[in-house]
Amino acid sequence: MKKNLNQKLINLVEYYNLINSNILLSDHPIKRTSQNKSFAFVGTKHVKLDKLKQKIKSIKNCELKKNATNLVFGDGNINSKIMIIGEGPGANEDMEGKPFVGRAGKLLDKMLASINLDRKKVYISNVVNYRPPDNRKPTDEEIERYLPYLKMHIEIIGPKILVLLGSTALNSLVGNEVVISKARGKWIQKSIGNTKLWVIASFHPAFLMRQPEQKKLAWIDLKMIREKSKILKI
Ligand code: URA
Repeated sequence: MKKNLNQKLINLVEYYNLINSNILLSDHPIKRTSQNKSFAFVGTKHVKLDKLKQKIKSIKNCELKKNATNLVFGDGNINSKIMIIGEGPGANEDMEGKPFVGRAGKLLDKMLASINLDRKKVYISNVVNYRPPDNRKPTDEEIERYLPYLKMHIEIIGPKILVLLGSTALNSLVGNEVVISKARGKWIQKSIGNTKLWVIASFHPAFLMRQPEQKKLAWIDLKMIREKSKILKI
């Protein structure tokens, strides 16, 4: 009987040694899906971006990655002070491995041109880097999985202005309590890592193709970006 009790105690001590007592004793809820990744890449911007790309390529057990043809990482000027974030690649982007090359991308190019910008002057990426099957929205779990990579991407590029296109980008980076129809066209200041940013949300070009009457609001947002670029001397 005593021997049994001793063995039980030994097992219990071993068990406690194996598990993370910080988690056990903390009164914060455990976020099971959070990867809590922290990367410390060194080197030039090119090197850091390449390392980030490799890190994303090494993601395991991801539905998005399994179904996709190519990683869609980013496009444009890596030294730009304006970074644009969409939702996720569509079929054309998946085929070409570049963000915003399909119909929504053509509209984005036109929107940028209206304020004298183009892909040589901005940098573009997405919340998730692999195409969601059937162009569905990425799930909360998928967003959470790719968020540390996106934040690192933003930190490496180091923009002064971050443009969030659509609700997925807005909710991923600003929070789930905000809605695009209310949050668009308003500047907020935000820090991502060591990067201090002016953030503005606007409608996603794919949404504008479905609801062209909203383009007048998108035009207001674009003018705000033009004005802020002037003020920040970008
Ligand atoms: N829609 C997005 O959000 N991103 C792309 O790259 C293409 C379409």
